[in-house]
Amino acid sequence: MPQQILILDFGSQYTQLIARRIRELNVYCEIHPFTHAPALTEDIRGVVLSGSPCSVRDPEAPNPDLSQYLGRVPVLGVCYGAQLLAHQRGGDVLPATIREYGRAHLTHINQHHPLLHGLRPGTQVWMSHGDTIKTLPEGFLTIAGTPDVQVAAYELEGQPTFGIQFHPEVTHSTEGKILMQNFVVNICGCDQSWTPEHFVDSMVLTLQNTIGPDDQVILGLSGGVDSSVAALLLHRAIGPRLHGIFVDNGLLRKDEYEGVLESYKELGLNVRGVNASQEFYAALAGHTDPEKKRKAIGRTFIEVFDREAHKVDGANWLAQGTIYPDVIESVSVKGPAVTIKSHHNVGGLPELMNLKVVEPLRALFKDEVREVGDALGLPHNILHRHPFPGPGLAIRILGEVTPERVQILQRADAIFIDGLREFDLYNEVWQAGVMLLPIHSVGVMGDERTYEQVVALRAVTSVDGMTADWAHLPYQFLAHISNKIINQVRGINRVVYDISSKPPATIEWE
Ligand code: XMP
Repeated sequence: MPQQILILDFGSQYTQLIARRIRELNVYCEIHPFTHAPALTEDIRGVVLSGSPCSVRDPEAPNPDLSQYLGRVPVLGVCYGAQLLAHQRGGDVLPATIREYGRAHLTHINQHHPLLHGLRPGTQVWMSHGDTIKTLPEGFLTIAGTPDVQVAAYELEGQPTFGIQFHPEVTHSTEGKILMQNFVVNICGCDQSWTPEHFVDSMVLTLQNTIGPDDQVILGLSGGVDSSVAALLLHRAIGPRLHGIFVDNGLLRKDEYEGVLESYKELGLNVRGVNASQEFYAALAGHTDPEKKRKAIGRTFIEVFDREAHKVDGANWLAQGTIYPDVIESVSVKGPAVTIKSHHNVGGLPELMNLKVVEPLRALFKDEVREVGDALGLPHNILHRHPFPGPGLAIRILGEVTPERVQILQRADAIFIDGLREFDLYNEVWQAGVMLLPIHSVGVMGDERTYEQVVALRAVTSVDGMTADWAHLPYQFLAHISNKIINQVRGINRVVYDISSKPPATIEWE
């Protein structure tokens, strides 16, 4: 295991951000719920205690025994973490008379202190707390304050234990990164060697040690970043004993199947392309309900994948592209996530075929997956593509999915996506696509009255897809795309632009 920082999670909305900031310093870290605090090992060079929506004054609030860490490795309590340490040693944590939420400025800073070194007087920090530390226990020293918060930061004399009332992990704390670096690098002594190249080398070794010399691994490829990077890592570790299966469900973008398969072949991957479009169309025939469509696709995918996987002699591993946010979600303080993303869910296949599961990206955030993909030579067109849903165009065709309607949508979608690239807008939006609506509208072409289908263009900006805003694309661009679609795609005579944000709308229409 690499040297690492342990983050004990007490349920704060910002816990993942703490991990992001530490990883940005090229230091490995892991989040564990406080209910499952791991035993201290040599790899753990320091501990961060996260914030929490709870109050330490509540008898039900998290109050774990931290003695295995305190005094043995550096510990930094953030917000609730800071209050908890003070409370456990007999300090007074009381409801704040002025509820501090938002921007504040550190005015009394001990600039010689190793934790605060480099922070400028008056530096902006982000506060978010209802309680405040009124009196510190014996042996605790204040090292920073604000006009409203007497104890904004403290240390425990004689041991590397610190508490801060503000959140250095959010970008509104303008010098938060300096503080994180002071803690992780200068105080904990981490050597900043967690780089994509380092990850690749060590993961390849791990995979070679885990997967036996005659073992065979199967992996479902989707053309997306995660499964492609997982494939490249496994390929580097075990070569052709990785058997990729790329299913064409007939619901991919125009020319996507051929293009992506070609890229995989050029990368030297052992991938089998399976054209199963007709099976998917047959399963979708007659369905208009979104959930029934999703279920029909999921069921068919499992059937096809299962059939293809059985063709691999001696297959005994199933690889999956699970990434860190999925892992955190499933062990979070708030309880296991109830839903499993469909592309990670290949039904009961592991049990059915008696397969062991290997997940080489379990420790990585999405942007780290991209960096690793880059280090492995994944081409730009796969590395930086927009997210695309597992059920594909089926959930962008409102009403029944037929091969003809898929073709119409593919043509309109290709004009929109190619246009975004041509106008240098592709990377400005997080996701884009076209929706084929289940209505006809009247139009006029030449002297002819038309009665044809309507499409809606959808483009959003977002960070993680959980919330999204509609992209404010230039009118000139929208006019160009609308003309082109109506002129070139037979069957469409009207184009509209979706200006709904999420929430309350969703990104997809079904
Ligand atoms: P919504 O429409 O819920 O979408 O705002 C958020 C993100 O999730 C994708 N999405 C899916 N991905 N299977 C998937 O693999 C699905 O059933 C599915 N539904 C939505 C969507 O494209 C967007 O990126």
